[in-house]
Amino acid sequence: MENSKGSVQSTLPTESSGASAPPLPTNPTWKDIAALFQSPFWLPDGDRTIVGSYWILKMRPYNLNLDQYPDVSTQAKVIYDAIYSGDMPRTYDSTEKFPPEAVALFKTWMDNNCPE
Ligand code: HEM
Repeated sequence: MENSKGSVQSTLPTESSGASAPPLPTNPTWKDIAALFQSPFWLPDGDRTIVGSYWILKMRPYNLNLDQYPDVSTQAKVIYDAIYSGDMPRTYDSTEKFPPEAVALFKTWMDNNCPE
């Protein structure tokens, strides 16, 4: 049996027993990137949308709507720098910082000219 490594689905709920990383799409589109902010996969199930909503709410006054394609695509480079360096999200909880695979997914999307 082949394994499912080739799967491109990024945001399906995974079984809680799974110790492995979720499958990451090789050609991410906006829905995959939006999910990084709206429902960060590296956080516990019950926290994801709460934390994501908080991030989105907090950045809105800075003219960065993390749930809107035009904002995220036009500011992709500076967002990338912020998540890569760990400067953002600003939090004392280091588990909320973007893990390398999430940063890499964002970079792939950016390098592909932010497909919608
Ligand atoms: C273009 C990239 C970004 C810029 C220029 C930016 C800028 C800022 C600034 C100026 C602040 C307020 C400074 C402070 O409270 O110390 C802030 C706070 C914050 N940012 Fe960002 N940010 C960016 C991306 C992000 C991203 C991608 C996230 C989430 C994934 C995020 C989440 C937050 C949070 C949670 C706060 C804390 C707000 C608070 O505690 O009141 N930011 N950001």
